[in-house]
Amino acid sequence: MIQEDAIHLRYDVYKLGVEPIDNDHFRMLTLADSARKTLDKSLLVQIFDELIQVMNEHIEREEGIIKETTYPFVFHHCKTHDDLRKQVADAYKYIIESSLLSFGKYNPVSALTQVLLTHFDSYDRQFVEYYQKQPR
Ligand SMILES: [Fe+2]
Ligand SMILES: [Fe+2]
Repeated sequence: MIQEDAIHLRYDVYKLGVEPIDNDHFRMLTLADSARKTLDKSLLVQIFDELIQVMNEHIEREEGIIKETTYPFVFHHCKTHDDLRKQVADAYKYIIESSLLSFGKYNPVSALTQVLLTHFDSYDRQFVEYYQKQPR
């Protein structure tokens, strides 16, 4: 498991080398970091609203880049984006339905951060490695 705290201080670790993708990932991690720091529920909901919007824009942009190539795992990668959307929606629902900011065993902000980092570090990294080898 990736150490969440270490990542929040080292966004550069998750720079994969394709600028539009990296910029979006940075925005998402920054929002996840803000979510982690707030103790105000209405602010947390606002941050999540923005994060969901940024994530949806990112997925569209990233899938556009992927589909311009002959990447063999395009279908699978897009499918993992559907899973990502669902996990973020679950975390959001949990926040909305929680009456307090003490989340107990399931912390939706940590869960979301972990899900994002794992995706960037696996599926996105795998695509970028393929992308960078393509002749242009
Ligand atoms: Fe992705
Ligand atoms: Fe991505």
